Amino acid sequence: MCGIYGYIGKLDAYDEVFKGLKLLQYRGYDSCGIAYYDNGIKTIKAVGPLNNLKKPKILCNLAFGHTRWATNGEVNLFNTHPHSSFDNKFFVVHNGIINNASELKNTILKDVPFSSQTDTEVVVNLLSVLKGDIDERVKSLFNYLTGSYALIIGYDDTIYVLKKFSPINILKNDKGIYISSDIASLESGELCQLKDYSIFKIKDNDIINLSDVKADFVPYVNDIEKLNLGNFSHFMQKEIYETPAAIRSTYNNIKNINFYDCVKNIKKITLVGCGTAYHSCLIGCELFKELGYEVDCVLASNLIVNGRVGRNHLHIIVSQSGETADCIKIAEQIKKQRGKILVITNEPKSTITKFANKIITTKANKEIAVASTKTYSCQVFTFAYFCHKLKDANYHLDIETFEKNLKDYISNIDISTLAEMLKNKDKMIMIAKDIDYLTILEASLKIREIDYVYTLPMYSGELKHGTLSLVDSDSIVLSLNTDNDKSKLNNAINEIESRGGSVVKMENYILAENIDNFYKTIYSIIPFQLLSYEIAIKKQLNPDMPRNLAKSVTVE
Ligand code: G6P
Repeated sequence: MCGIYGYIGKLDAYDEVFKGLKLLQYRGYDSCGIAYYDNGIKTIKAVGPLNNLKKPKILCNLAFGHTRWATNGEVNLFNTHPHSSFDNKFFVVHNGIINNASELKNTILKDVPFSSQTDTEVVVNLLSVLKGDIDERVKSLFNYLTGSYALIIGYDDTIYVLKKFSPINILKNDKGIYISSDIASLESGELCQLKDYSIFKIKDNDIINLSDVKADFVPYVNDIEKLNLGNFSHFMQKEIYETPAAIRSTYNNIKNINFYDCVKNIKKITLVGCGTAYHSCLIGCELFKELGYEVDCVLASNLIVNGRVGRNHLHIIVSQSGETADCIKIAEQIKKQRGKILVITNEPKSTITKFANKIITTKANKEIAVASTKTYSCQVFTFAYFCHKLKDANYHLDIETFEKNLKDYISNIDISTLAEMLKNKDKMIMIAKDIDYLTILEASLKIREIDYVYTLPMYSGELKHGTLSLVDSDSIVLSLNTDNDKSKLNNAINEIESRGGSVVKMENYILAENIDNFYKTIYSIIPFQLLSYEIAIKKQLNPDMPRNLAKSVTVE
């Protein structure tokens, strides 16, 4: 599950690939490497993020590279892509998983020396072992390799691009030919989103389709704001502050949707997502429930589609990236069973949208930081607005006031002192009730992923049934109660304080009043998002790239 990027053209290919990979680091940044053509293909690799690469002292017109999130094999230079064949003739970068790699190593490749623990290396060694014309050898890869893969293969001054299940795109414009695993990293031009089992050969200015799969190049304009921190120190911080504008754009995009039509004749709704998107589904689930719908919420990795999906059963799949493998797999299964799918995503051209009967696009603009913040709020907003409209078709939201209030609210939150107080804690318990419990699920994920702190979110009433044994004078508990009844958590708080533990009432940081109930959780999550950011800064951690994680998890 990695980013791959390639370029052939008149500009310096190394630079173009380096810039492209920068935009793909959200897919993984354990290690990285670039292959470039300089009278033969050479590679340069580094452990860690792209800035660790040392640029070669030549200019080149062909290069392709990779930014890795380790799946098969630990993080070291041997396992870093690009991989080369044992005879140094073929080079490859890969996104996906070759399922039968060990089988191939034990059979057709049993006499071949391998230098990495990766599944990817079989691709190039196989090409070297096979006999005959190079194009034919590349074409035969689909017969040998099972699993999912997007591949860029380099052979002398030629590039091959292959796709089976993992996304990859080719774009041409007056600067050259670009290849990327993510459209958003590409400039404007003529774009081809490769279909499964496509193979392209690219040499100089020519793009040759070697497969029978139809390929369309269509005009593409990238209007996505490129990486730009402005006055902010990190993308995570910038993105939290962008929440009000992101919600406004989302509103503008969804305001005319006929939401009633989306659920017409629907008797049951299942909400599906992973990570943060799953947490926004949990909020959506509560809102639909309030309207009387039969609704449940399932983690994509846990959902089993058993047999035919009823015509009155709607699956709403939420995925910021639209590329999360667990979600795509579920979408595929539901589609096979002829079930109805509504996708809520920030990437309307992403893989998951191919399975959707209807797509709702959140317009959060690109989110770079690994931890979702503004996209979570846009997802929650979408559910809240959706449910408002179902409740009352004439519902009107004054978006200008909404945006302004939220903006004022965020700029008035001062969480720095609390972050200072918590920065050395390595464990935290969080307690809440009702919908606030769903907020602390997301809040605790933020603090785990960004600050490397063990966080345990609990229903406050459950504390006394076991977990209280963890509480001592060292314990810190964050409580959240946005209910009008301010005494709701008092019992649990008393139980903690009687054992010497300290409680921080997070509602004290929520300084907004009279918030519409449907939108309340957008307000309650923000102090936690800022808290996780501030703690990371105080611990000198990079909040944009937490260890071991990637923004888009394209493997199951
Ligand atoms: C990864 C990210 C999470 C994200 C989850 C789902 O695990 O680190 O931040 O919430 O994937 O991503 P999606 O793109 O499907 O919303």
